Amino acid sequence: MEHRITICTSCKHKGSTCRPGYELIDRLRRALAEAGDAVPEDFEISGVACMAGCDRPCTVAYHGTKKATYLFGDIDPATDVDDLVAFARQYAYLQDGWCSSVDRPGKLRKSTLARVPAALIAIEESEVLAS
Ligand code: FES
Repeated sequence: MEHRITICTSCKHKGSTCRPGYELIDRLRRALAEAGDAVPEDFEISGVACMAGCDRPCTVAYHGTKKATYLFGDIDPATDVDDLVAFARQYAYLQDGWCSSVDRPGKLRKSTLARVPAALIAIEESEVLAS
């Protein structure tokens, strides 16, 4: 099962030209490395230019094979990395990736821009393989 976190590198801090996405990528990579086995799956972290959440910088997405996809906004590299690591741990354990807002850690309860179910084609493929 593959897991990935995608971070927008184009988002600008509100009212400034600073683009904090690369700093967030660095901090999150280091924090996940420090977490070690506490996060039971490897997450590939990559940058992308714009996920259409530009009014809510930084934007961060979680994806996993046959799992729901999340898009979070308002993520601050200075204060929110612990919540991102906590959600990586939680997401790794969720079979279909689905969880409600009250179950998400800290700021991620209120900063979810989208939760998209796993692609139907992936679910149908897994049912064919299982039968
Ligand atoms: S510039 Fe970051 S989501 Fe559009």
